[in-house]
Parts: sequence; C-alpha cells; structure tokens
Amino acid sequence: MKILVTGARGMLGSDVMKAAEEAGHDVRGFSHTGLDITDGDALERRFGIDRPDAVINCAAWTDVDGAEDDPEGALLSNGTAAGLVSSAAAAVGARIVYVSSDYVFDGQKGSDYVESDATSPISVYGKTKLAGEVATLQANRRAYVVRSSWLFGLDGPNFVDTMIRLGKSQGQVLVVHDQVGAPTYTWHLAYGIVRMLDSDAYGVHHMAGGGHCSWYEFAGEIFSQAGMEVVTLSATTEMFGRKAPRPAFSALISENPHAIVLPVWQDGLKGYLGQKKSLEGAASE
Ligand SMILES: NC(=O)c1ccc[n+]([C@@H]2O[C@H](COP(=O)([O-])OP(=O)(O)OC[C@H]3O[C@@H](n4cnc5c(N)ncnc54)[C@H](OP(=O)(O)O)[C@@H]3O)[C@@H](O)[C@H]2O)c1
Repeated sequence: MKILVTGARGMLGSDVMKAAEEAGHDVRGFSHTGLDITDGDALERRFGIDRPDAVINCAAWTDVDGAEDDPEGALLSNGTAAGLVSSAAAAVGARIVYVSSDYVFDGQKGSDYVESDATSPISVYGKTKLAGEVATLQANRRAYVVRSSWLFGLDGPNFVDTMIRLGKSQGQVLVVHDQVGAPTYTWHLAYGIVRMLDSDAYGVHHMAGGGHCSWYEFAGEIFSQAGMEVVTLSATTEMFGRKAPRPAFSALISENPHAIVLPVWQDGLKGYLGQKKSLEGAASE
C-alpha cells in the first residue's frame, strides 16, 4: 500500500513511518515545512502527485496549554486542516487516519471510556481535536479516527524523559495523583495504526496502552523500571495551576469489534526504556 504521513517528524509520526516501512508499505512522510496541512492547495497538489492509498495525519497543534491562548490557531491545525487533509485524500480515493485524543472527554465518567461514550471536551485543545474528528469523518467516507492518550516515544519530549531527567538532577519529583489515564508507547500505537489499515473498519477506534494509572503511579513505575531511587511526592492538579483543564479520568478501552488491542502500559514503558538503552549503547560504541 502507498502511504503518506503528515507530521512525519513528530513523536508519533516518526514511529508511524518506521512501522509502515517495516510492514512493507511504500511510505512517504512530510514534515511541517514539507507539507503544511493548513494549505489546502498544497495538499491537493501533493496527493495528486503521490496518489496514496492511505494518508495518516499525525500533524497537529499539541501544545495543550498554548491552545488556551490561541484557540483560532489550534482550531485551524487540529480542526479545519484535518478536514482539508481528509477531503484531499478523498479526492484521490485514499483512506484517511486522524489521530485524536482522550481529551475529547470530560473525565467525569469515572471508568474507562469506550467509543460510544458522549464526548464533552473541557479544554480548547480537546474541543479542536473533536472538531478534527468531525471534519475528518465528514470529508471522507473511508476515515478512521484513532483516539489515544498520554503518548511517549523516542522522537519527542515526553513524561518519561522528563521524570528521568528531574529524578537524576533533583533526586525528588512532585507529580499529580488526581489525573488517571492510559500511557501509550508510540511504537505500539504506530504498529496498531498500520495494522488497522488492513481492515475496512472505518469510524472511531480507541487505541491506547492497556490498563490505567495516575501520573504519580506512572512516575513510580518509571523509576522502578529505570532502577532509580527517587523520592516521588504526590500533588493535586490544582497545585500545578496549568492553564488548560485536564480530564480527571480519561483512560480509553475499545468496544469496537475490530479493536486493535495494545500491550499494557507497563510493557510499553519497558519497550521504550529498552529501545532507549540500545540506542544509547549503539551511540557509545
Ligand atoms: N502527545 C500526546 O500525549 C497525545 C495524546 C493523545 C493524542 N495525541 C495526538 O497524536 C498526534 C501526534 O502527536 P505527537 O505527540 O506525535 O505530536 P508532535 O510530536 O507535536 O508532532 C506533531 C507534528 O505535527 C507538526 N505540525 C504542526 N502543525 C502542522 C501543520 N500545520 N502542518 C504540518 N505539520 C504540522 C509538528 O511540526 P512542528 O513541530 O515543526 O510544528 C510536529 O512535527 C496528534 O494528533 C495529537 O493530537 C497526542
């Protein structure tokens, strides 16, 4: 299959490129400067030349707090542009994958969210991701929306790296205990997204690491798996005073009969730390 990836230099986009190549697909990826998804004409030109069978849209505005200061900018990238990508894909008969977020939910359900649960985003970012879902599904009848959460991977700043850095430099960290979600290793998600393209199960898919935890529990597991002695202090969301509100409980599971089930988050973490170690080992040889 010929696959085109937008946002290909991002944390998820980089792993999607590798997973698609490993699965034997003919893959072409574009960075932000290579293909700006807010430029509808550029999208139509590019897709007209490359004639992909599928487009995986990993390009997004991902600054959750920054979106509160610039709702129009966030909506342009996550909502309007998602519709442009989807319709340009439809014009060449390509399927489209839009990567969405657990932040489309308000976090008040108190248990794992399934695809049919009502959405009710509480942040600007969440609202723009929901707008992107709708725009993607409306513009292309062969559209998949993949909701995931709490991503960590090699090619982007992430919570795991932050904890390890702070743990090494300070010996103690302060982490919120009142937000619960499903940490997801981007390599596992990328592999799942590429596998999903083998089926015609269009529509919404929840695809996140199995199980759930709070950020505080996640930090504890990071230090345990990394073999680090770090004092982990628990805090409330309110204490951090972040600009954008976050859902209190936003773990995702799937009720989709074609669900692609990812490994539990602890295994995702193990895979990520292992991958980092082998790359560091190779770099020092
Ligand atoms: N990170 C998470 O925890 C998380 C959780 C759930 C869902 N998601 C979703 O997963 C997807 C991938 O996220 P990620 O964490 O991999 O994000 P990321 O590392 O920030 O990657 C996003 C990429 O999109 C590019 N981009 C931004 N605006 C663009 C535009 N107008 N045209 C083309 N490219 C553009 C960025 O390039 P520049 O940096 O050069 O601007 C960046 O390379 C996003 O849809 C995100 O909403 C993320």
